Amino acid sequence: MRLSVIGCGYVGLVTGACLAEAGHEVVCTDIDRDRIAKLQAGGVPIYEEHLEQILTSARKTGHISYTADAAEAIRAGEAIFICVGTPPKESGEADLSAIDYVARQIAAEARTPKLVIEKSTVPARTGLELSRALSAYSRNSNVKFRVASNPEFLREGTAVADFFHPDRIVVGVEDPSSAEELRQIYRPILEKKFHCPVHNGTCPPGQKAEFLVTTISSAELIKHASNSFLALKISYANVVADLCEKIGANVEEVTHAMGLDPRIGGQFLKAGLGYGGFCFPKDVQAFIYLAAKVGVDFDILKAAERVNKQRIEHFFEKVHKALWVVKGKRIAVLGLAFKANTDDIRFAPALEVVKNLIGEGAIVHVTDPEAMPRTKAVFPQLHYHEDPYDALRDADAALICTEWNPFRKLDWQRAGSSMARKLVIDGRNLYAPQDMKKLGFEYYSFGRE
Ligand code: UGA
Repeated sequence: MRLSVIGCGYVGLVTGACLAEAGHEVVCTDIDRDRIAKLQAGGVPIYEEHLEQILTSARKTGHISYTADAAEAIRAGEAIFICVGTPPKESGEADLSAIDYVARQIAAEARTPKLVIEKSTVPARTGLELSRALSAYSRNSNVKFRVASNPEFLREGTAVADFFHPDRIVVGVEDPSSAEELRQIYRPILEKKFHCPVHNGTCPPGQKAEFLVTTISSAELIKHASNSFLALKISYANVVADLCEKIGANVEEVTHAMGLDPRIGGQFLKAGLGYGGFCFPKDVQAFIYLAAKVGVDFDILKAAERVNKQRIEHFFEKVHKALWVVKGKRIAVLGLAFKANTDDIRFAPALEVVKNLIGEGAIVHVTDPEAMPRTKAVFPQLHYHEDPYDALRDADAALICTEWNPFRKLDWQRAGSSMARKLVIDGRNLYAPQDMKKLGFEYYSFGRE
């Protein structure tokens, strides 16, 4: 099928690339002309595993193209995926101005009927407004628009794998023909008939994705309800960790046993510095805002948000207890990205830590496998090191802020021999306390002795 993708951020680019790899003809556009120029020249503006590989292969087959001319992209596709940003406003409400702008562009430029699909995370009822905007701004009464919601469940870092191996594909539609069109779009993925970049070509047999057809409002709600529930789970684990610290229990033993109950599940129960990124913080806020707007008090979600904000304070209680005075101390921060396997630093807990350290007058040395270039643009005054051992040299303390695998494998004997003080404050519970103590470290983490 011929598909258009509007917005070439994490969601749009992964969606466009994967649908092209699945055999469709995809035209992508973005208001950022530099981004389009980079893509046209074969560059990849974001780091995401397998993305470069599939973009290269889609270029070779001619299945993907890029244009800065939105009208050209709009006219090209039978179906249009809207993948633009919906950032939070001051109030927590999602800012839908980019969706509105795109709706008006589609209405003005389309010359043939279109299925317009919301892929961006949007509050319930956006579909209705989108439908209204499309008909209000349409210049041609013969051009019919249908609207659908097809939320993404892609994690940054594993977005390509998540796209090709989803556990569910949710399509919120207003008529059966839209559901059928979306089923056609996803057929290669549902039937596992595509060259799988994650498994060197052939997908292993295994669980197939559920294709769920719902109303548009349900689909919109499914996305927010899922993300908010995961955030709730993380905050719950963090409060259990605080309790473990007071009582002398071990949070990992507790959450491991909890997770073995299939009704609970073991994922998203890792205690630490809390959740960040461009999805959970904003989606939780937007869900609270939406609920309040329709008269539903989402108190438990407000508590989850409060708990998450307090993680940084709680971390600094540990820092102060261990270091006493922070001013003038050389601190090594390991990890800047909001989580491992991404260069994304938006709402990263690590950056809050860095900000506080600067505020207290520390000399901050940092390292991260991918996120240093982006961080440099925001905090040019930090000392950046490619090699974690260089960041740790002469440090009075090491603060672990992101759960990167290379940090799990560090030789702490080697690192400790060059540190000014053998002190590790671990915001992601990467190491076993007894191992660190055996190596002569003062070691603090969350919810463990
Ligand atoms: C999240 C969801 O997992 C995706 O399903 C969703 O599609 C996406 O948001 C989105 O709305 O676009 P993502 O933001 O990439 O994906 O990151 P996650 O892997 O979910 O992690 C979120 C944060 O929670 C990270 O800061 C991570 O370090 C933290 N986390 C995660 C914990 O603190 N503890 C855990 O046990 C798990």
